[in-house]
Amino acid sequence: MPSTNPIPIRTDLPFRPAPNENGNTAFSPKSSAAHGTRHKHTRSSYSENSPLTAVSRNNSLSFRPLKRSTPSPDKTIAVINASGRQAASLIRIATAVGYKVRAQLRNLEGVIATEVATNPNVQVFVGELYLRNKPDDNRDVTAHGPLPGILVNHALISQLFNGAQLAFINTTFYGNEIQIGEAIADAAKRAGVQHYVYSSMPDHAAYNPEWPSLPLWAAKHEVENYVRKIGLPATFVYTGIYNNNFTSLLYPLFCMELQPDGSFVWQAPFHPHAKLPWLDAEHDVGPAIIQLFKDGPAKWNGKRIALAYEYLTPIEACGAFEQGVGRRVRYKRGPIKVTVKIPEGYRAQLEALEKLWSLENNDPEKQPPYFGDLELDKRCPDDALALWEGPRGLEEYAREIFPLEEEANGMTWMFEDEGEPELEGTAEEVEDVDNNEDGEDGEDDESFDEGLVMRGLKRDEESWLA
Ligand SMILES: NC(=O)c1ccc[n+]([C@@H]2O[C@H](COP(=O)([O-])OP(=O)(O)OC[C@H]3O[C@@H](n4cnc5c(N)ncnc54)[C@H](OP(=O)(O)O)[C@@H]3O)[C@@H](O)[C@H]2O)c1
Repeated sequence: MPSTNPIPIRTDLPFRPAPNENGNTAFSPKSSAAHGTRHKHTRSSYSENSPLTAVSRNNSLSFRPLKRSTPSPDKTIAVINASGRQAASLIRIATAVGYKVRAQLRNLEGVIATEVATNPNVQVFVGELYLRNKPDDNRDVTAHGPLPGILVNHALISQLFNGAQLAFINTTFYGNEIQIGEAIADAAKRAGVQHYVYSSMPDHAAYNPEWPSLPLWAAKHEVENYVRKIGLPATFVYTGIYNNNFTSLLYPLFCMELQPDGSFVWQAPFHPHAKLPWLDAEHDVGPAIIQLFKDGPAKWNGKRIALAYEYLTPIEACGAFEQGVGRRVRYKRGPIKVTVKIPEGYRAQLEALEKLWSLENNDPEKQPPYFGDLELDKRCPDDALALWEGPRGLEEYAREIFPLEEEANGMTWMFEDEGEPELEGTAEEVEDVDNNEDGEDGEDDESFDEGLVMRGLKRDEESWLA
């Protein structure tokens, strides 16, 4: 929740009297207070006890300070993977309200890296978080587990934390994620970081031995355990499915496949009627993390937070998307289609994901909770909305942003009319018609297209990192 701390009152502050209703410019805070004047915004940075609350900042007929200081938080946040959607979201909002950021970027290429690197409140540290022992080693470094010859870039990591009091750390599967995550936590501890927010995910096997681990998420679970073990004052955010995972590019799992009639079909193994957590990472990670920093470890140390502002079944998600995009959107439960080259680590993740949300499990009540811990799923979307009340929902995303991203990726469907729909009805009715509970839809991985690699014009290689 926003701070209600009173701002320091400066008695030397000159006031510019604005004319009152009698045309008189005389000002007396006391007399104003005596008449019970109150600012009307509950979220004002003036406390109720401040004499300034007698002065509405928003009513041009009342008094306002001629000048007031614009205090900014005297804190520096260390961030890694600064071009990623989560980190970039935090950097934008944090620097806008006065925080300084120390940001690791692996290169300065691309729109987001440029945005971060040219932000005057950001100091960038360019380099990979991992090092290859042999410079000519070009192998895929995304597989889960030990990677001989792949080291951790300790020098860069230590530098990053010099002078940082806060940290937001979202590791990815490039390099040995567990080793990198542990090295980062150690460096933060050495630097005396006061509040460490780690973007975690669950190891489902830790909640139910019958569930398989999703390898990419299990690595984060291990890092979380390590952060707890070394006693860093830390909070763990679990992010829901990003709205902008959806794309009509043929990426696995969140492909909104464009149909000949202009409608979209999303095919995935999730049960059509079991709830999933959603968030708009670019829009809504940053404000929530800022609130965690403002509240501090006194409130959040050791806590897990479900960062998802909507909790929707696939059918409901398609309904929201349909409302926003203005075209039919149908959900089809089925296997994950992999028709493009994907890194090894992601391939293993998708295989495990298809086992976890098995197509044979037909009971929505028996679907594994997305965040592993049912209690965490149950706190969607309350946890997130208690931190930030202005999220961008899936419908708004589909209306405002999806067509722009698609256009940036070279799509043209938004300039064409949707054809005559083949089926009438809502997303849910269509699902009942289309849904193939056996998961056999006649399409298989044989259609693998060697020529198509995971690269869109705008989103580049990153958009499939679910
Ligand atoms: N998508 C979801 O729904 C979802 C949900 C929960 C958790 N997550 C987790 O979030 C993490 C990704 O974070 P994000 O979404 O903020 O990032 P993102 O937007 O997917 O961007 C990917 C990040 O990884 C970097 N990267 C790309 N290729 C790389 C390579 N070969 N070597 C090293 N780094 C590389 C990118 O750097 P460049 O810009 O330089 O390429 C960028 O910083 C993943 O661990 C994922 O599991 C995702």
